[in-house]
Amino acid sequence: MCFVRCGRSTGKRLRRKLPSADQRLRRKLLRQFIGIDVICLGSKNFIFKTNSFLILKNQARGSKLIARSSPRFTIDTLERPASPVQEIRGGALDAAGLRLLVKRDDLLRWEEGSAFCGNKWRKLKYNLLAAHSQGFRRLLSFGGAYSNHLAAVAEAAHVLGFESIGIVRGEATPPLNPTLQRAQEQGMQLLYVSRETYREKTEAGFLPALGIQPAACYVIPEGGTNSLALAGCRELAAEITAFDPPDCIAVACGTGGTLAGLVSSLEGRCPALGFSALKGDFLQEEVRRLLAENGYAHCDNWAINTEYHFGGYAKWRPELLDFMQQFKADQGFALDPIYTGKLFYGLFDLIKKGHFPRGATVMAVHTGGLQGVAGFEQRYG
Ligand SMILES: Cc1ncc(COP(=O)(O)O)c(C=O)c1O
Repeated sequence: MCFVRCGRSTGKRLRRKLPSADQRLRRKLLRQFIGIDVICLGSKNFIFKTNSFLILKNQARGSKLIARSSPRFTIDTLERPASPVQEIRGGALDAAGLRLLVKRDDLLRWEEGSAFCGNKWRKLKYNLLAAHSQGFRRLLSFGGAYSNHLAAVAEAAHVLGFESIGIVRGEATPPLNPTLQRAQEQGMQLLYVSRETYREKTEAGFLPALGIQPAACYVIPEGGTNSLALAGCRELAAEITAFDPPDCIAVACGTGGTLAGLVSSLEGRCPALGFSALKGDFLQEEVRRLLAENGYAHCDNWAINTEYHFGGYAKWRPELLDFMQQFKADQGFALDPIYTGKLFYGLFDLIKKGHFPRGATVMAVHTGGLQGVAGFEQRYG
């Protein structure tokens, strides 16, 4: 049984608000206490959470049912059915004689609007299971101020009842942007380090210098890329190849972990094409290293396109935003400007240039990332 003691002011606020709260506020308050069975409000009042009810118990006055609670989200919920596949229609595809399918991994999520979705779900799933089975109570990871990964770790930790720490690259620049604001609301402790210090994040003395005991935290690397992340992404490949494998699978790349996981499971059955969201040629080497380190050096049916980064990470030009807007109007679902927008822009451009043979079926993976749109709009209007 897990219980939490609220400070006097939180206790008073909850005691006052909960019995009269409307459904939305109750749900919000309930979510703050996911993974918690008893909330002690001072010495006489307790809120008990069961799978279906929220009960306020006053030692003198007895119990009172104050809300129906949603079922507890447990670690088993990380097992989900295969994400859906959607066919894209359009004149460019007809002209090129191609089928373009989208693996809607953005719909692999905890709830609508979740940051914990898409390739974050795939990459974190086995890390969360490992943290749980090894008895860790705290997750720690790293990222930039707009990191999809940090946002996903914060949400996963919140939902599953872990504490979380996010080491943020760069100085704090109040007010918090939407990504960090939400992470903080979900209980993530944010620690800012300078860019120079951040570069040393994998060194043994880094966390102790911040006053953190490494052994007390389940540490997930930047971008979530490690062997367990690859294992999660292998499940994405298995879902895709359970039916007729396409002639090419396309995916956006940052650290290359998602691509490496896919490639390691495809074992050459169909080629994978990564679209780098970052400037430079380092990704080729990085994916090769990830494959080799995990015993898949022989998997070589893949390539990385570096032509559609629009100047680098989070860089853009108006034609990218125009494309994304048109895409949403035509297809009915959104892309993000950092990863999936560039992937689809690049794919459509290659299709127009005749890169794929007529009759081919291409499958693009929608890896999520929509949490970043608010921060992008705040920065660039
Ligand atoms: C939405 C989205 N798609 C794709 C990627 C690229 O994934 P990877 O770092 O595994 O290459 C990221 C990376 O963080 C992402 O947030």
